[in-house]
Amino acid sequence: MAWMGIDVGTGGTRALLVDAKGKLLASFTAPHEEIRMEKPFWAEQRPEDWWEAAQKAIRGVLAEANLDGSEVKGVGFSGQMHGLVLLDKTNRVIRPSLIWCDQRSQPQVDRINRKVGEKRILEWIANPVLTGFTLPKLLWVREHEPANYEKARKLLLPKDYVRFMLTGELAMDVADASGTALFDVVHRRWSKELCEELEIDTGLLPPSMECIDPAGKVSKSAAALTGLKEGTPVVAGAGDQAASAVGNGTVVPGAVSCTIGTSGVVFAHMDRVAYDPQGRVHTFCHAVPGKWHVMGVTQGAGLSLQWFRNQLAPGADYDSLTAEASLAAAGSQGLIWLPYLMGERTPHLDAGARGGWIGLTARHTRADLVRSVLEGVTFSLQDCLEIVESLGVDAHVVTASGGGARSAFWRQMLADAFEKKINVLATQEGSAYGAALLSLVGTGEFDSVEAVCREAITVESAMVPRPHESHLYRGLFEVYRAIYPALRPIFRLQNNLT
Ligand code: XUL
Repeated sequence: MAWMGIDVGTGGTRALLVDAKGKLLASFTAPHEEIRMEKPFWAEQRPEDWWEAAQKAIRGVLAEANLDGSEVKGVGFSGQMHGLVLLDKTNRVIRPSLIWCDQRSQPQVDRINRKVGEKRILEWIANPVLTGFTLPKLLWVREHEPANYEKARKLLLPKDYVRFMLTGELAMDVADASGTALFDVVHRRWSKELCEELEIDTGLLPPSMECIDPAGKVSKSAAALTGLKEGTPVVAGAGDQAASAVGNGTVVPGAVSCTIGTSGVVFAHMDRVAYDPQGRVHTFCHAVPGKWHVMGVTQGAGLSLQWFRNQLAPGADYDSLTAEASLAAAGSQGLIWLPYLMGERTPHLDAGARGGWIGLTARHTRADLVRSVLEGVTFSLQDCLEIVESLGVDAHVVTASGGGARSAFWRQMLADAFEKKINVLATQEGSAYGAALLSLVGTGEFDSVEAVCREAITVESAMVPRPHESHLYRGLFEVYRAIYPALRPIFRLQNNLT
């Protein structure tokens, strides 16, 4: 018997299988098409491509594990958050999805703030409205593509679309719904108040539910396409960050994780709701029923290294890049990388922030360049961590996960810069793994999310901070922090030119 987690990510869709105790059996990833970036700061993907990738991933993982679909007892979901998927009255996709890192909607954010008022917004949804969130994307479509808006009958997030294709049921979990900016995070329901104020038909919104709740069964047509058995129960699942937190056991007070994927996230479990008065970190519903989490997000984490590789080291793999970085001295001879390649959320909330190197000299080598990229991303995560801690989270140990954290070199850098112990887990399968664990709870194999995490998750090793490097990074971090405020006016001028 096996349980399946499906993560509809940015680069690809990944399916994995676990046994009844949450032990990993197999995984398979099917890549997505390239993100379409028609203009700077725009980012779109086709939902139909996600569904095709999901079919390949499901078939792929069943073949990999040599299992028949009838042996899969439950399916859970995870996915990239915030993306706008609009369906028409026949449940067809109306236009490509504006995904999480699309930053075109600053004018809509400004108008929402003027109309509703930032204080009321914070009261209603526990967060400010940000360009990355779904609501301003919806209003962008309403303003720029009224015919598409008129056709829209349902709004979904990326994984909800794939779940809909698998089950024929429309649903959204509370964790992912929190990132739409249309959700009353405190009361775990859609914000009728905000919808009314902005004249958004609440009929657009699918039923919301806790992440372990049943959200349909595999349909006959989807069974034929995927190899799963018709009628297999599917649980709602969660946005990728909450799912990944389940996958790495960040489900109890005091637990903090740091995930380096395309974006980078510092995530803390919360038993109560707390939010940053400046809205620099997100306060969302957790995948643990009745609980919340806070998270700081840096937009260009793994993306920074990916950009470096694509543009400056074509053909290199990430291991060879981190090996090259390790040849440079800590601090990269004073060179500092700003990772704001897709604007920035925490701590600047500035869709127009730009990235770059500050402090190049003729002595710098490519090893310094790549090391400084890792250091700059680390500093942006440290910015996130400090705000999370300011909300009363006592973070002695941070669990690292995501592609970036596979590198021991980068984990050591996190330990040195954060001056905290960095744990790494035996199973580092991220959000798809969390999705599979949620399906184990949702189908009744475990009583609670905490219980499945206790059973399935073990710490493999830890990195501790090294005093010399910590001292050096403390100084460099101060310089890093001074750069953005100084360059902000320059970014404004640059953005006016493009
Ligand atoms: C979280 C966020 C990213 C995306 C892409 O707020 O935007 O984690 O979900 O992975």
